[in-house]
Amino acid sequence: MGRGGLYSFLLIFVLILPFAAANIGEYDDYWSKKAAEAWNRTLESYEPMPANVVNHFNVHTQRTLKELEGLNDTRRELAHRVYTGPCKATNPIDSCWRCDPNWANNRFRLADCALGFGRKAKGGKGGKIYVVTDSTDNDMVNPKPGTLRHAVIQKEPLWIIFDWSMVIRLNQELIVTSDKTIDGRGASVYIAHGAGITIQFVHNVIIHGLKIHRIVPGTGGEIRDSVDHYGFRTRSDGDGISVFGSTDIWIDHVSMTRASDGLIDVIWGSTGVTISNSHFTDHNEAMLFGASDAHDIDKKMQITVAFNHFGKRMVQRMPRCRFGYFHVVNNDYTHWNMYAIGGSMNPTIISQGNRYIAPPLNGYAKEVTKREYTPESTWKAWTWRSQGDIFLRGAFFIESGDRDFVGKHPELYDHVEAASGKRVARMTRFAGALGCKVGEAC
Ligand SMILES: *[C@@H]1O[C@H](CO)[C@@H](O)[C@H](O)[C@H]1NC(C)=O
Ligand SMILES: *[C@@H]1O[C@H](CO)[C@@H](O)[C@H](O)[C@H]1NC(C)=O
Repeated sequence: MGRGGLYSFLLIFVLILPFAAANIGEYDDYWSKKAAEAWNRTLESYEPMPANVVNHFNVHTQRTLKELEGLNDTRRELAHRVYTGPCKATNPIDSCWRCDPNWANNRFRLADCALGFGRKAKGGKGGKIYVVTDSTDNDMVNPKPGTLRHAVIQKEPLWIIFDWSMVIRLNQELIVTSDKTIDGRGASVYIAHGAGITIQFVHNVIIHGLKIHRIVPGTGGEIRDSVDHYGFRTRSDGDGISVFGSTDIWIDHVSMTRASDGLIDVIWGSTGVTISNSHFTDHNEAMLFGASDAHDIDKKMQITVAFNHFGKRMVQRMPRCRFGYFHVVNNDYTHWNMYAIGGSMNPTIISQGNRYIAPPLNGYAKEVTKREYTPESTWKAWTWRSQGDIFLRGAFFIESGDRDFVGKHPELYDHVEAASGKRVARMTRFAGALGCKVGEAC
């Protein structure tokens, strides 16, 4: 973006941001500086050749499946049943760390395991371990040491873990700073019945192994977002996780259900995001990638959605996309009630090796895809492609754009196909927060 572009971008901030869904009450120098730095990071993190990232992902998945075949485990996979056998990692992200019985002494290993657009997220790798010992969340401006809120506002890289299983009811949105991992392994950690997690104008955050349930809006007020800054925030929306103007973010093995707004929103020029191995149930509008037709900064948005299970009583937006480039790969869609994947404003959607199971009763909801508010004459040019997906109970995906794009650009794809949707039940079998015990493989 040239100077003119940057200028108009800043102008948008100045004019619109205080009134938009940023929840920032006082849009002061502090926030305008953070926003400008964040935009620079978006430009840096953006991949000019996204097909390379897609390819890299698929090569790793194929390799892992081959290794599993070598183990000759021919037992029929029963999807999403409780599994009690020896540790079995079924996809390349998990096989990178999960079956190490010594994982608790080697927590940073996880930071080397992301794939897809969020693969550069290292979180708090190399930093101190911060142990959360206090589940309360009472003081928004001077949070008590030992609380999750005290951990996430620190300036240095931190790897945040939990001393015991706990339910944390966030009094207001939890504003996470850069270079943090929130690692729920070894405890059963619920973020529930309160406000959600906000990742705003920061970079390099990993969220792993949390259960995020029944998130409601925070009323707003003075909230500390860093050891050296706090300010007035307006009411938060009630999203489970809100990624706003942020880069290099990885959300893995999270279980989410019933937020009063979205489960995960990724908006405002965020990029370099992977959402993997997570389990979603009981929710209407699951994932919003790009919040407004006016935010064309979301052209820089690049997100991988992989190995997730969209389960019971899910309705729509898995995800709903604007502008950017979205690799939706090897996910299991066992339930939706309106559609699975939607969008507007010319997003690129590469759907590969997913399993789509349409709702049994609603004959009007068999279509996986939905183009919002756009005539066919326009959307027929959008690149929405399905490769290696499998469709059950009458599910169907309406493709658009140049169907022979891959054929014309073998140099981009190197003839590597995604793993087939037939393998998805196995690859997503352990989706959601894992019950890891210290001293045993997860
Ligand atoms: C953003 O990047 C440009 C070009 O590298 C640089 O001149 C500018 O100072 C950066 N802005 C911030 C806020 O870091
Ligand atoms: C896997 O095991 C089955 C039964 O034990 C055997 O018949 C089959 O040949 C084996 N396949 C490979 C690839 O080793």
